[in-house]
Amino acid sequence: MQGVTVIDHPLIQHKLTLMRDKNASTKHFRELLNEIGMLICYEITRDLPIEMIEIETPLTAMMAPSLEGKKLVFAPILRAGTAFLDGMLNLVPSARVAFIGLYRDPKTLESVEYYFKAPEDIAERLVIVMDPMLATGNSSIAAVDKLKARGVTKLRLMCLLAAPEGLEKFRKHHPDVHVWTAAIDSHLNDHGYIVPGLGDAGDRMFGTK
Ligand code: URA
Repeated sequence: MQGVTVIDHPLIQHKLTLMRDKNASTKHFRELLNEIGMLICYEITRDLPIEMIEIETPLTAMMAPSLEGKKLVFAPILRAGTAFLDGMLNLVPSARVAFIGLYRDPKTLESVEYYFKAPEDIAERLVIVMDPMLATGNSSIAAVDKLKARGVTKLRLMCLLAAPEGLEKFRKHHPDVHVWTAAIDSHLNDHGYIVPGLGDAGDRMFGTK
């Protein structure tokens, strides 16, 4: 699908299989999501712009590559998106963080916003929105709507699993936002869950069910 990258790295695929297993413990599930977050972050930042800066090694002066521009913003959608955060901040410790609180109305499956806190100059930065489960696509669409309304123009979406229905809907609303995911599953069921999926990511991360 255009505008979508499926990251087929064997380490990511192996960890995803461990997460799908219904017998994975809460602790293991959370650790795996954190590790996968780091690995996907590595891929999603692969083409960040670089500038050459002058430094001195113990031996001589040299021009060396350095990340160009303002620091990135990681924007997890609460609550499951936060599971990616620690791993990503380990990789990019100076990144800023914007929290976007959305929940899915169980009847309408529409996204309802209850929290938004972002750096003031977010419009000048590249923002990576984190939504592990791209199911109906409603949360990701709402999060990107919110960010665009604040003037953000450079956006990327990071998922763990996506349903074809959600991906298509997201791409239709936001064709300018590239999506990275570890897998595209078969379909959504009548309750809006990804099949085969891994169940409710938030509940499995935090042991709430
Ligand atoms: N959110 C989840 O956590 N899991 C799904 O399968 C769909 C939405």
